[in-house]
Amino acid sequence: MTMQVRIFEVGPRDGLQNEPRHLSVDTRLALIGKLAATGLRHIEGGAFVSPRWVPQMADSEALFQRLPEDDGVNYSALVPNGQGLDAALRAGCREVAVFAAASEAFSRNNINCSIDESFERFTPVLQAAKAAGVRVRGYVSCVLGCPFSGAVAPDAVAAVARRLHALGCYEISLGDTIGAGRPDETARLIEHCARELPVEALAGHFHDTWGMAIANVHAALSQGVRTFDSSVAGLGGCPYSPGASGNVATEDVLYLLHGMGFETGVDLDAVARVGTWISAELGIANRSRAGRALAARSAEHR
Ligand code: HMG
Ligand code: MG
Repeated sequence: MTMQVRIFEVGPRDGLQNEPRHLSVDTRLALIGKLAATGLRHIEGGAFVSPRWVPQMADSEALFQRLPEDDGVNYSALVPNGQGLDAALRAGCREVAVFAAASEAFSRNNINCSIDESFERFTPVLQAAKAAGVRVRGYVSCVLGCPFSGAVAPDAVAAVARRLHALGCYEISLGDTIGAGRPDETARLIEHCARELPVEALAGHFHDTWGMAIANVHAALSQGVRTFDSSVAGLGGCPYSPGASGNVATEDVLYLLHGMGFETGVDLDAVARVGTWISAELGIANRSRAGRALAARSAEHR
């Protein structure tokens, strides 16, 4: 039996949306091309959100227009509303993602509406996407805590996840936006969500603020989750989640998974080289532990 795990690379979106240095469309396209060359088959390339809210994601339309069409990579983008979907369709996107929250306060801060209002917006988005033959992924934020209102009950997360799935999202990515969850809480959360929808339809999206992200990946893996969002060089963060840091690093996830015998189709050394490059482009230290270890090893052998 092969053991396969899908890696959903979110570096070009989550990874860049909170960086003080804003990258040009050319550099973002170079990043996406380098990531695709490592074997990654799911890459979130940008977000069709208000450039006033997230200037780092401006010009996603121009970016998506220039992505290759038939290279076997699933390029996805965030859309918060009908305006975002229209832009995504114009740019030729084949997959989009709507993003909800399990906490009212975060929903208000991130997309300026309540959870119920967000579903009123998503309903026509899902209908129009379906009519256009575009797949829709769904995110739930704040699954292990909210930066504004604190603890979030697993049942509240499961309810939002179920609603997104019922609306037609093919997969629900559970986001520990603030990166504060611990593995026992993650396992309990997955258990609750798997009562409401198939575990195959769940993905883990862990931020690493408190150093628990890779442990949370392991906990979700133990509960049967087989899709993980991660970000090259551990980039990431949400501008509307104060104090939150990067996503679990793709390099670290690959190191864990390959060591456990899982197949991903992704070349760890190649991702590590992209991590070194993009960290230099952004003028920041590489946040991937595995990436730094590999870079040190190749410097020794030089
Ligand atoms: P709003 O101000 O309530 O929107 O923002 P509005 O409908 O009243 O429109 C106001 C202005 O925004 C208008 O422009 C619209 O045209 C424009 P104006 O006439 O003032 O010049 N506008 C748009 N422009 C471009 N694209 C659009 C769009 N929609 C309206 N789609 C809105 C509501 C949702 C737009 C805003 O709150 C927004 O853009 N929020 C996005 C926030 C965001 O991107 N957060 C980060 C991503 S989520 C995340 O990181 C979590 C995740 O990683 C999982 C996890 O970690 O938990 C996914
Ligand atoms: Mg995120």
